[in-house]
Amino acid sequence: LPGQFSLPSGDKIPSIGLGVWRSAPNDVGEAVKVALKAGYRHIDDAWIYGNEREVGNAIKESSVPRKDIWITSKLWNTFHKPEHVEWAVDDTLSKLGTSYLDLYLIHWPVAFNEDQEVDWELTENPYPTWQKMEEMVEKGKIRNIGVSNFNIRRLQNLTANNLKIKPAINQVELNYWYPQPELLQWSKDHGILLEAYSPLGSAERVKETLQIPEVKHIAEKLDISPAQVYISWHIQRGTIVLPKSVTPARIEENFKVSRLPLNLFEQLENAASAHKPARGSDPSKHWGVDIFE
Ligand code: A2P
Repeated sequence: LPGQFSLPSGDKIPSIGLGVWRSAPNDVGEAVKVALKAGYRHIDDAWIYGNEREVGNAIKESSVPRKDIWITSKLWNTFHKPEHVEWAVDDTLSKLGTSYLDLYLIHWPVAFNEDQEVDWELTENPYPTWQKMEEMVEKGKIRNIGVSNFNIRRLQNLTANNLKIKPAINQVELNYWYPQPELLQWSKDHGILLEAYSPLGSAERVKETLQIPEVKHIAEKLDISPAQVYISWHIQRGTIVLPKSVTPARIEENFKVSRLPLNLFEQLENAASAHKPARGSDPSKHWGVDIFE
């Protein structure tokens, strides 16, 4: 399986990244260190996770050189106004203790105003925010820019502008319950790489996800774990995969992947596409924006 995917900038992004959403304080630094020791070279963070300082410290203490690690962070909804973007970037850089990010994403297609309410204008037209993201690349603070939780319509809406830099990446929920084959195909056709968050179904559903009969069958056949089946499946679909764990044995397990034989890959792809798609928990529901419309 490919250890990396190439981006339009020429940069190569490691195909497995450690997810750190909802990793509790004190756990997350240790998880990052275990991951770097196990061979991970990609950490997926965000300003809103509130753990950038601890993640940055763990990276430093690992003594793996900064240039060998891919660091992603994300612009929170309250900072979409063009005059706020650079402040948000600088705050993330200072907390992570680094002079640049490998990747910076618009975290949600939802802009908030000062009162934490939806700014509908900037939500429907994120181009002013995007232009600032482009400027951050020109200034050397960020190497690649992208989006997260964008559907096809929102990406078409953004890329209809005369962009200097196109979104390289869209990070979205992708798992057995919500495999999004249409978005995957559209993204491939348009040169946008997808990143899979909640690749094991997230904490609420992981147990059930690992017990799907098709997956257990494949795991037994190949003598690997169900989690390894899923992580391999994601990479084989052509996406980056961001498994979250704070458990050392699982962090190590999730990094050991191998290509699934084509017939077994297709069995899993078919099983995932056969049931009614069901998203995991989604904060945007509470914001009053239907991000899928
Ligand atoms: P923990 O962090 O306690 O190890 P997702 O990546 O889909 O968001 O799923 C994250 C959830 O899956 C977490 O609850 C995590 O638990 C659990 N998890 C991660 N890797 C494995 C694994 N290899 N086997 C079982 N559970 C796992």
